[in-house]
Amino acid sequence: MTWDGYQSLGEKGTIVEKKGMRTTLLITGVVFGAVAVTAAFAQSASNDGGASTIKRQLPEYTESGDLILPKNFNEWVFVGSPLTPNALNDGKANFPEFHNVYIEPGSYEIYKKTGEFPERTMFFKELQLTLPAENPDGSRTELSGRGFFPGKLNGADVTVKDTKRYAETGGWGYYNFNHHEPKAATAKLQPKSECAFCHMASAKKDDVWTQFYPLLDD
Ligand code: HEC
Repeated sequence: MTWDGYQSLGEKGTIVEKKGMRTTLLITGVVFGAVAVTAAFAQSASNDGGASTIKRQLPEYTESGDLILPKNFNEWVFVGSPLTPNALNDGKANFPEFHNVYIEPGSYEIYKKTGEFPERTMFFKELQLTLPAENPDGSRTELSGRGFFPGKLNGADVTVKDTKRYAETGGWGYYNFNHHEPKAATAKLQPKSECAFCHMASAKKDDVWTQFYPLLDD
């Protein structure tokens, strides 16, 4: 399959998500070359009755507008794990952990096809401390070698794309679900000066740090 074929399917894929079965028929004609892909796509449309082709987990809010901790994030698509341990940051890293980053799978499916994060995409960053140091540089020695090894979980950050709801913070909402365990059940929206400013200034794509996630990078 050529990249072009995939891309054109993707653009139409977004439309299908909104309009369902009727548009699927149109696609079958448009993506003339990509027979196998078209067949698979049409099948997935009929599986859910044609209302939408991609199943997504969307953000949920309390009545007062706080974000509810997304369920089953450990089953989402894992995109990367930047590491900033205390030992390499003068003993006081802002985030002294692995940052295990996941994207909601339905949003990832759409991103693969369109190259854009759809409205209501969610990212989940679970923080995970390293196991206690054995060496002065914070590392320890395990059977696989000398290095940093994941230990206790330590809270989470979540971002949600919604260009209307979060217009003041670049189209993404930023939430912290504790910087310790257990994670909070709900979280309040953070102001631009806490989170968004940094993402808006330096993240590579649409305020997401795709430069650290090969799966999402162009
Ligand atoms: C000083 C810069 C900076 C600030 C402030 C900041 N972040 Fe980030 N954020 C990053 C970087 C760099 C990454 C890339 C992964 C990593 O190193 O953790 C990231 C990644 C993330 C991710 C994973 C998805 C993505 O966009 O790559 C989430 C979720 C996230 N941050 C939420 C938050 C929240 C919530 C706050 C505020 C409480 C916040 N961030 C404040 C720099 C920042």
